Amino acid sequence: MSRRRRIYEGKAKILYEGPEAGTLIQFFKDDATAFNKKKHEILDGKGVLNNRISEYIFSHLNQIGIPTHFIKRLNMREQLIKQVDIVPLEVVVRNIAAGSIAKRLGLEEGEVLPRSIIEFFYKADELDDPMVSEEHITGFGWATPAEIDDIMTLAIRVNDFLSGLFLGVGIQLVDFKIELGRLWENDVMRIVVADEISPDSCRLWDIKSKKKLDKDRFRQELGGMLEAYREVADRLGLLHENEPPRGKGPVLVKSD
Ligand code: TMP
Repeated sequence: MSRRRRIYEGKAKILYEGPEAGTLIQFFKDDATAFNKKKHEILDGKGVLNNRISEYIFSHLNQIGIPTHFIKRLNMREQLIKQVDIVPLEVVVRNIAAGSIAKRLGLEEGEVLPRSIIEFFYKADELDDPMVSEEHITGFGWATPAEIDDIMTLAIRVNDFLSGLFLGVGIQLVDFKIELGRLWENDVMRIVVADEISPDSCRLWDIKSKKKLDKDRFRQELGGMLEAYREVADRLGLLHENEPPRGKGPVLVKSD
């Protein structure tokens, strides 16, 4: 790893210089952090699971015409991605009340929201990623009004895709966070989905039991986080891909 030039190290990933101009390698670490790194543990194999789950989601987003930075998975822990300028926002889409919105607005966890709600948070660890409005975003120049429109359209399309994907395997998509980047191609700039989408950045509940299958297991000290991530990967058909009897792709869960 030391052969390559390290461009950036975050809490859960490292970015290295890629093999060609305009590319990077995204390495998934085993670090689990919460509450802006106040809670930190190494969970053996988390990076491998998130790499695989995120690859599955991003390659499908690409296939249905939702642009992303993802090119291909390289190995157990690494992906080849396009280099983008990250928009300094975390964009959260919520379908069901949980986490910070439940606390902020006094909602019951599990309450279905009147409609999908998009929230913006300014990416600044030293400030604990404060929630911001479109006024702040345009006023401080973090994104233009046209970019905010693009971001909201992408966020809703990702929400529709992910909700359907997880519903098909018996999982409810409560909320998720995405990050966006600016990608230049032939002098044209467009906004693409970047970073990762995994149980680290989504709230995923089993539809029947409401069991949490995401990073809330770590945040709330429920235990069994790796098993939950493995369960998500397994339901998406990602764990036994080379074993002929199971075949590929999502496993349909019959609802009654
Ligand atoms: P929140 O309810 O804590 O605001 O989180 C909303 C969603 O965003 C949830 O799916 C978890 C995800 N998230 C991140 O991916 N990174 C973060 O730093 C935070 C606070 C939340």
